[in-house]
Amino acid sequence: MRMNSCSTFAASMWLIFLAFSDVLVNAKYLDISHEYVPGLPKYDSPTGLGTFMKDITSILRGEEFNTRNFNLSTDCGTHVKAFIDVESLDLTILNGPVFVVEVPKDKNITAKVMQSLNIPKGVKRVLFKTLNTQRKLMYKKEFDSSYTGFQKDGAEWLVENTDIKLIGLDYLSVAVKPDKDDVYQVLGKYVIPVEGLNLDKAKPGEYFLHCLPLRMSEANAAPTRCILVL
Ligand SMILES: *[C@@H]1O[C@H](CO)[C@@H](O)[C@H](O)[C@H]1NC(C)=O
Ligand SMILES: *[C@@H]1O[C@H](CO)[C@@H](O)[C@H](O)[C@H]1NC(C)=O
Repeated sequence: MRMNSCSTFAASMWLIFLAFSDVLVNAKYLDISHEYVPGLPKYDSPTGLGTFMKDITSILRGEEFNTRNFNLSTDCGTHVKAFIDVESLDLTILNGPVFVVEVPKDKNITAKVMQSLNIPKGVKRVLFKTLNTQRKLMYKKEFDSSYTGFQKDGAEWLVENTDIKLIGLDYLSVAVKPDKDDVYQVLGKYVIPVEGLNLDKAKPGEYFLHCLPLRMSEANAAPTRCILVL
């Protein structure tokens, strides 16, 4: 009798587990990383990434295995920036609930724009979908310095008035070119910038974010796979 109720209990726990894992399996993922392709733009470069994958050994050439090397700058494509080094970044910031917001198309991210976005207190992660996505800048190999990003006062407003610890943008820097040094200085160790995101299919709203930069020592930035869980 006792045995029976025990195994019934175990069986029902198993069913609950199966139902739950099914929910996980049915979760929808939106890949918000760009594919590394030779046509990917590179900061300040007129020619883009170019050939980055090279055969080292090849079965076709009569060698025993296929081995390849790749050569990427740490901050190319979709990447996370680090002010100390990537290894020091907190995974609990890189993964968690996130807001995707749309920035007015005719504006860079200034203090006024930040204020107008009305991001609630307590929100820790925000991805800013800008005109860059509409202009398809990440699909043009020639670097375009007129991209949209944070201006210094926008970054200052964010640090002073919000709880945001991670920001993401849809081109190669979170900061507009003229304010780049200033913005990174303001964000400093408080905010992790994720750059070069693919927000083509990300509608404004709330999601769960996963960003996993390659674990490399001494890296100032690292190629990163980022996904949204819907
Ligand atoms: C890797 O790429 C950089 C930048 O394009 C280049 O200067 C360097 O020579 C390359 N290194 C190798 C080993 O191919
Ligand atoms: C954002 O700033 C850049 C650099 O100053 C500028 O070229 C661009 O036109 C601005 N974009 C918008 C939408 O205002």
